[in-house]
Amino acid sequence: MRVRVLPDYESMSAAAAEIVAGKVREKPEAVFLLPTGTTPLGMYRRLVEMHQREGLSFDRATFFNLDEYLGLPPDHPASYHVYMEENFYRLVDADPAQIHVPEGSAPDPEAECERYETAIREAGGVDLCVLGIGRNGHIGFNEPGAPFDSRTRVVRLAESTRRVNASDFEGDRAPERAITVGMATIFESREVLILASGANKARAVAVAIEGEISDAVPASMLRRHPNTTFLLDQEAAAALSLSDE
Ligand code: F6R
Repeated sequence: MRVRVLPDYESMSAAAAEIVAGKVREKPEAVFLLPTGTTPLGMYRRLVEMHQREGLSFDRATFFNLDEYLGLPPDHPASYHVYMEENFYRLVDADPAQIHVPEGSAPDPEAECERYETAIREAGGVDLCVLGIGRNGHIGFNEPGAPFDSRTRVVRLAESTRRVNASDFEGDRAPERAITVGMATIFESREVLILASGANKARAVAVAIEGEISDAVPASMLRRHPNTTFLLDQEAAAALSLSDE
């Protein structure tokens, strides 16, 4: 595990974008597993700029998203389909046939999970997985207690996660369930990059990096992964003892 601490959100986002860009330059047909949320917005913005200014191309890459709310149609404004189209996929030259987001409104969610897991496997597995971290240490929507051997499945969201995400929904009520890629699927990625920014992530980051490795803090499990980088801004790193060195 590597830990890199950058001064602020902008420099963390720039470093994250460089890592993604480096991967697609080195391997244009790379397979990515990507997050939504507030944290990666700066990274996506920079990747779009690199595409526009330098011609960075994603047209041979394959994309999977980590998660989607259960029951949300792809055109729902709070869906991760819409988020990804608006912030990244539509703004670069990604091939629509190579973009995969779990189908939250699939009539048979279990079958959808199986289909998704198979699609990742058939794509040859993930070259680079980019993650955010929840305030409770979740990755994807693998909430505390998520089994290490879990695959893409339907999960119940933690109440704290629903509260944090409530403002995206009318009536301030986030869905109770979601489809998420599992811990084992994330773990099999050849490289993992986990991003955290801001003081409200400092505790989760400190527990994930310096606490006990336990499924109570899903992000802590990444310390067993052979190629994981935590990319933090100074505020998110503030509760680490290594930040005093
Ligand atoms: C989103 C996801 C979540 C977020 C996490 C942090 O696709 O998988 O694990 O990465 O909840 O969200 P933000 O970045 O909004 O703080």
